Amino acid sequence: MNIGVFASGRGSNFQAILNAIHQGYLPARVTLLLSNKSDAGALEIARSNGIATAHLSQKQFPDEELYVAAVLAALKEHDVHVIALAGYLKMIPTAVVRAYRNRILNIHPALLPWFGGPGMYGHHVHEAVLASGMKISGATVHIVDEEYDHGPIVIQKTVPIEQQDTPETLAARVLTVEHEIYPLALKAFAENRVSIKERSVWIH
Ligand code: GRF
Repeated sequence: MNIGVFASGRGSNFQAILNAIHQGYLPARVTLLLSNKSDAGALEIARSNGIATAHLSQKQFPDEELYVAAVLAALKEHDVHVIALAGYLKMIPTAVVRAYRNRILNIHPALLPWFGGPGMYGHHVHEAVLASGMKISGATVHIVDEEYDHGPIVIQKTVPIEQQDTPETLAARVLTVEHEIYPLALKAFAENRVSIKERSVWIH
C-alpha cells in the first residue's frame, strides 16, 4: 500500500508511521509527503528519508480547481492509494475526498465526536477537554469526509486525565497513543482487514 502523508507541522505522527514501516510492522511505503507549509518539520523528515515531497498550498493557485488538479496530479504521480493526514490543518477539497472516498484517514487528539470541528486543533482541543471536567481523553483515527473531524471512526484509545494536567501534559499523553493507533489503523488498511458500512467501521 502506498501512503501519501499530508502534514502541516513537526510530523511526529509521520515519524511514527515511518518507524512502523521500518520495523516491518506496517506493510506499506510512504511515496509522498505533502505539506501546505514550506517550513514544516515533516518536510525535513521526508527529505532525510528520501521520500518525495510536495509543497502545495491553496495560496499558490488562483482558484480551487487548479489547486485540486495539482493535488490530484501529485497523488497520481506517486501512485498514492491511501492518504494519511498527520497534523494537516487544511480542509481536504471535496473533489479529493470524492476521488479517495474511504481512503483518507485523519488522527485527532481527542475522543470524537466530542472536541472536534473547525478551530479544534492543537492546544485548543486539550484546553476544551480540561475545561469540560472529563476524566478521560484520547485519540481518534477516523475516515475523512466532507466535514471537519466528522467521518466514521476507525480506532480510539483513551488516556486518563490527571488533576495536575495542563494542555501541554495532556497533549503529550495523548500523543503517545496517537503514535500507537495510527500505525495500527494503517496496518489494518494495508492488510485489507477493514469493513466500512456507512458510519460503521470494523477491523477484523
Ligand atoms: C497531533 O496531535 C494530531 O492529532 C493533530 O495534530 C498533531 C500533529 O502532531 N491532528 P505531529 O505533527 O504529528 O507531531
